[in-house]
Amino acid sequence: MSPTPAPPIRWPAEAIWEAVAPGLPGFTVEVLPEIDSTNTELMRRLRSAEPRPEPILLVAEQQTAGRGRQGRQWHSQRGDSLTFSLGLPLQPAAWSGLSLVAGISVAESLNPLPAGAPHAEHIGLKWPNDLWLCGPDGERKLGGILVETASWDQLRFVIIGIGLNIRTPALPPAEAPGNAPSSMAALPPGALQGLLPGISAADALLRIVPPLVQAVQAFAQFGFAPFQSRFAARDVLAGRAVQLSDGTQGSAHGAGEDGALLVHTAAGMKEITSSEVSVRPVPAAAGTSPKARP
Ligand code: BTN
Repeated sequence: MSPTPAPPIRWPAEAIWEAVAPGLPGFTVEVLPEIDSTNTELMRRLRSAEPRPEPILLVAEQQTAGRGRQGRQWHSQRGDSLTFSLGLPLQPAAWSGLSLVAGISVAESLNPLPAGAPHAEHIGLKWPNDLWLCGPDGERKLGGILVETASWDQLRFVIIGIGLNIRTPALPPAEAPGNAPSSMAALPPGALQGLLPGISAADALLRIVPPLVQAVQAFAQFGFAPFQSRFAARDVLAGRAVQLSDGTQGSAHGAGEDGALLVHTAAGMKEITSSEVSVRPVPAAAGTSPKARP
């Protein structure tokens, strides 16, 4: 007997288009049942675009070759995950901090933090591109952001790819998203339904995309500085002992005005800007104890 086909997902494409298109002319929304990677597909389209490419939200119900940062794979399963890329022309004065801005926007859309109130369970951000579910049981990777840019004629395009676990993925631990070589990733990945029971990938998409477009446009106009304190409110590395991929150890001191990670090392304060530098917290026994979460 053949397996029962999965029920169709009702994507809020029209509602997203209505919210976004007035501020982003030419914007379209497209949902594909399957593609290798939404970032790869938008890159391919950019290379062959004629005439000028338009802003687009590309959602995939299933990715067969999802990509993470630093050449890693991004595994996801239909219905258990949300995978999409937002592509648009952008001309910021500087690009540094854009993936932080995307992360701030996603976290705030899904989990606004009331000022001053204690927030035991919340979405945290790990520089430069990780979304974490932080709670009393520890910190689990909830999602990741892959920002890529490409030129078309004289224009610069950005592709912001976002992958979020909606339900706990039924994947072997070695393949699960978020299994970066980090002491923080020792726990299995987190899922958004742990914070927002019953939320679907489609609901999450509608909550995320319109504010994300606005945040990206604000970043292009004003840079990272206006987002600095919003990042600080969710910074999971702040005050923690970290190790850079070149072996340097220090303690993380948040993000600077340009989005660089500030790390206090034996040689003084270092500004980490390269997206190729990976940062991992030093296990508690080898470094200072983790900052108490609010
Ligand atoms: C990371 O944590 O390393 C970033 C993961 C980004 C995954 C998303 S899923 C949608 C888009 N398409 C991809 O192939 N990657 C990004």
